[in-house]
Amino acid sequence: MSDWLRDWPAPAKINLFLHVVGRRADGYHLLQTVFRFLDFGDTIRCEPRSDGRIVTATPLPGVPPETDLTVRAATALREATGATAGVTLHVDKRLPMGGGLGGGSSDAATTLIALNRLWQTGLDPAELQRIGLALGADVPIFVHGHTAFAEGVGERFTDIELTPAWYLILVPDVAVPTPEIFRSAQLRRDTPAIAAADWRPGFGHNDLETVACKLYPEVKRHLDWLRRYGDARMSGSGACCFVEFDQESAARAALAALPADMRGFVAAGRDRHPLSMI
Ligand code: C5P
Repeated sequence: MSDWLRDWPAPAKINLFLHVVGRRADGYHLLQTVFRFLDFGDTIRCEPRSDGRIVTATPLPGVPPETDLTVRAATALREATGATAGVTLHVDKRLPMGGGLGGGSSDAATTLIALNRLWQTGLDPAELQRIGLALGADVPIFVHGHTAFAEGVGERFTDIELTPAWYLILVPDVAVPTPEIFRSAQLRRDTPAIAAADWRPGFGHNDLETVACKLYPEVKRHLDWLRRYGDARMSGSGACCFVEFDQESAARAALAALPADMRGFVAAGRDRHPLSMI
């Protein structure tokens, strides 16, 4: 099949922990986190167009096309390479916006990887990561493509391997704006940094959780429900929350017990991004 016809996967990520260890002079926060991919996400199709325009066929509610992260990624790739081709981007959206699962960032990363190949612009992964970082702090991990302990604003990686696991992810019916969480006066920004080599599964917590739960009680309600199954945590700046299971059947049984006013899904953890092999 031609690459122009294929669906390019844009998986979700979860943050197994997320510590805020400081703040840069420009206001961005210094983080330590572990990103893990899920076998669940959006897909993107790229359709060539001859008029040289970059167009989204699937605009998101409330997002002007020029601020859409896939459109911005395609535009940034053209600016970095001098490419002039046009494209229509089709996103099959399954990941929630403002969900902390990296949906918009993953779409941007997949657009960069796909168009770099389709347009034969030949950028290496480090260059794609640099372009991605300018689009959002969570974009580089998706270009990097391997489960990693991340530092800086989330762009310096130490790869890790994790044992297979299943997750029940709950999707509260709220969109949490990331900047609102990071600018809160109540955010702790002084969690002591650890060495990447010292991280173990289960270690840490999510420093953004307290603030998100206060501003969005729905997040707290979902976390409280999940805690009956173990060490439930919020992903990123929310709103989604997850708990880990060794067995798929246990994760599915928990999903089946979900109250009627909550939504969620079960997904497997993945150490590799599906496009990391190409
Ligand atoms: O990079 P991204 O678009 O995901 O970040 C959204 C906002 O979240 C930033 O503009 C910034 O206010 C805040 N942020 C931060 N520190 C980070 C990541 C994001 O302060 N490491």
